[in-house]
Amino acid sequence: MTWQPNSWREFPIKQVPEYPDLSSLKEVEETLGKRPPLVFAGEVQDLRKKLGDVANGKAFLLQGGDCAESFAEFSANNIRDSFKVILQMAVALTFGAGLPVVKVGRMAGQFAKPRSAPTEVIDGMELPSYRGDMVNGIEFNEVNRIPDPTRLLNVYDHSAATLNLLRAFSQGGMANLDQVHSWNSEYIKNTAQSKKFDQLSEKIEECLQFMAACGVRSDNTRSLMETEFYTSHEALLLNYEEAMTRKDTITNQKELFTTSAHMVWIGDRTRQIDGAHVEYMRGIANPIGLKCGPSLATDDLLRLIDVLNPDNIPGRLTLIARMGADHVMAKLPELLRAVDRAGAQVVWCCDPMHGNTVKASSGYKTRRLEDVMREVEGFFAAHDSVGTYPGGIHFEMTGQNVTECVGGVVSVTEESLGDRYHTHCDPRLNASQSLELAFLIANLMKKRRDHTAGILHAI
Ligand code: PEP
Ligand code: CO
Repeated sequence: MTWQPNSWREFPIKQVPEYPDLSSLKEVEETLGKRPPLVFAGEVQDLRKKLGDVANGKAFLLQGGDCAESFAEFSANNIRDSFKVILQMAVALTFGAGLPVVKVGRMAGQFAKPRSAPTEVIDGMELPSYRGDMVNGIEFNEVNRIPDPTRLLNVYDHSAATLNLLRAFSQGGMANLDQVHSWNSEYIKNTAQSKKFDQLSEKIEECLQFMAACGVRSDNTRSLMETEFYTSHEALLLNYEEAMTRKDTITNQKELFTTSAHMVWIGDRTRQIDGAHVEYMRGIANPIGLKCGPSLATDDLLRLIDVLNPDNIPGRLTLIARMGADHVMAKLPELLRAVDRAGAQVVWCCDPMHGNTVKASSGYKTRRLEDVMREVEGFFAAHDSVGTYPGGIHFEMTGQNVTECVGGVVSVTEESLGDRYHTHCDPRLNASQSLELAFLIANLMKKRRDHTAGILHAI
């Protein structure tokens, strides 16, 4: 069947709201259709190329941010702090892997959530579940929980403002490698993580001095002065994505893109091969992600790859494995082997968050940093055992000093979860825990590099 930006409407769909006011929805879609694109085709193609390098083992993908962005937590400081932590993680990884790191935020559009139950009961009252600020309000009352299409316009505005700031941060001096010391957040001052990061900063400064002596400085070399930072979200609300779909008018190519973000992904709950989400995503030219949970059968994955990347373009498709620490070694190697045998050019990325969510005795939804790290280690071990490339990491974090995940060097305990538990959805790593994770991966990447160098040396 020929694809159209609206052909998904003919397919069964899951996890989307039922809007009571359809005429308002139509009006919103028309308004969005006339709004300027948030991202541009050239940037989207650059990201696809960079992810192609990841697929070929020549770069590493770092994708992270909020589980759910919210209007309430929207502020310049929050965006700045998340951005800084991602930069810190990126330099740690660049150093460990000796490879370029492709930075993609779960930011500027990550406002809609799939839910495991359609309704929620509190004190005997049953209301529709909160599905993210893009759909309804988190406050538990009848009016708030009604899906409101005008929220899509609000998401567009928040995304535009976030992107504006991210572009300024990436290109306006904050990402300058000469500033590496200033990325260390005040929340983690004097901790083991910040000391480790300070040591790394000193090494980077030494390298920069050497390069400056050779004539390569931030005032004459753009890549030292600024960075490229891309945006991504789960493409859950297809009305929004359809309305944001545009042709590249500059190069006049035939391809259509969603201009809501550089990269979009399909969630684990909406990856049915005959479903609306797969139908929409197969037709857009953006790089796309596919969440791969423990229930994904090997044959289904191979079929999804055929549909989503029929031309086998490296960088087009990122498979985001989220098996859970206890299942990763049992489930992942078979998928890796099958995809490798099929000759599919994909990025394999590890989401060590969504398979490791537990309920603490206090009732808070949490994740243990040790489980997160165990899944990352399992992900690397699975790739080692098959001979494939562990290309990236996908995680939920914030630059704020929250207490949502337990563990870490600055330990958050089950008892202290309530101190600063602010997430609108899943528990996020705080700044210190994020850095700890980055140092772990940097080490794993370094080990791989030393191992490969050892083999080459032996030859
Ligand atoms: C998410 O990334 O926030 C999410 C809901 O993930 P998954 O689809 O893998 O459960
Ligand atoms: Co989440």
